[in-house]
Formats: sequence, structure tokens, C-alpha cells
Amino acid sequence: MTLIAIVGAMHEELRALLEAMPDERPVLRAGREFWVGHLAGHEVVVVLSRIGKVAAATTATLLLSEFEVSRIVFTGTAGGLAPGVNVGDIVVADTLLQHDMDASPLFPRHEVPLYGRDRFETDAAMSHHLADASRAVLNDFGATQAQVHRGLVVSGDRFVSERAENDALCARLPDALAVEMEGAALAQVCHDFGVPFAVVRTVSDRADDSAHVDFNRFVAEVASRYTLAIVTRWLTS
Ligand code: ADE
Repeated sequence: MTLIAIVGAMHEELRALLEAMPDERPVLRAGREFWVGHLAGHEVVVVLSRIGKVAAATTATLLLSEFEVSRIVFTGTAGGLAPGVNVGDIVVADTLLQHDMDASPLFPRHEVPLYGRDRFETDAAMSHHLADASRAVLNDFGATQAQVHRGLVVSGDRFVSERAENDALCARLPDALAVEMEGAALAQVCHDFGVPFAVVRTVSDRADDSAHVDFNRFVAEVASRYTLAIVTRWLTS
């Protein structure tokens, strides 16, 4: 079974992917439309996860149990945390962590109870090829200043839009490159099922006081074009 899942958290991305599929047909599960068809010659299922960790976990569970996908790529945007992770850059996760997981003092902060770990690794080969595809896309788009970053991405059920919250996150998790709202939930579900996955995010804002303005502008203008280009390049590489 070689069905590949491509998951987006935003309508704009989903629209761009669907427009590029010649034969998509919707399969309805749990209030979501899972679009099954082809992209760049591969069998794919494309779905809008909706926003947040629970929505991502539900979507991933359905992809794995009902559609039996062989791997999952989660796309979308993220807020930059580390210095040098700027709007327009791309972040490919090597590991993911739920920054709002806190069962202390029963378990260490961030540790997912009964898993004995706080970080979940993405598939190394998928992440490597998605990073290559991302570099090629930045080049194609003439984004010569933009960079591709690899490392820790943190997820939580909060849109980080205040400098103080950003500072606190960076102090607590100094190696975090970027923050978003779904990736670590997908990671935990894929870990449970033993299925490879990757997370690729374009940086839409700096997770600070102007995050909401930057985010809206970026999503409308750039995010969906990048997503389609990266996924297509990855599939054809
Ligand atoms: N996704 C994009 N920007 C974000 C932010 N600032 N916080 C959480 N998720 C995001």
C-alpha cells in the first residue's frame, strides 16, 4: 500500500493542492472530506485537519486506520522562535514536542505520560528530501534571502501572539526553532502506529505582538503556493 497522506491545517493550502489533482474524489469521515486521487503521479489522500492538536490527532488516526496510508506529510505555517528563523523561511522538523504538555510533578514537564519521552522524531529520509525540495522551491521563487531550517518544532493549543509568551517559550525550550499547533500530535499518533511522517512549515510570523497581522498576510499571499510547490517537488524527486 503506497497511499501518501498530505495534511494541511488551512483552507488556502487545501485549495491549491486540490486544484493540482486531476481526479480527486471526496470520502467523508468524522465531518472531514478526505480527497483521494493523484498528485504528481502518486496516489494521495489530501485532507484539511483543522486547527489544533485534537483535530490533528483525529485526522491522523483516520488516515492510518481507515485509509491505511503508508506515510504522512503535515504542511502549513509556523511562528518563528529561534533568532534567524524569519518570515518566509521554511522549517522542516527533525523532532516535535508538545510545549503545553505538563503533568508535573507526576511526570517531568513536557514528557508525554507513559511514553517516557517528550520528543518524537520525524522520518529522517522524508525530512531530508522535503528539506531538499524546500531549498529548490525557495530558489524557484527567487527567495534568495530565505532559509530552510531543520530541528525542533513545538506544538500547543495556543496561537502565540505576545512577546512575553514567546520569551517564556524560548527560555523553556531554547532549541525550539518554531511553534505551531498540530505537528507534535501527529507525531504521537504516527509513533503509536509505527508509520513514517514529516512536518514542513513555512514561517508566517515571528510569534510576537504582530503575529496575527503577519500570519493573515502570509497565508493569503504565500503559504499555499509554497505548500503545493514543496509537495510536488518532493513527490517527483
Ligand atoms: N502557526 C503560525 N503562526 C503561529 C503562531 N504564532 N503560534 C502558533 N501557531 C502558529
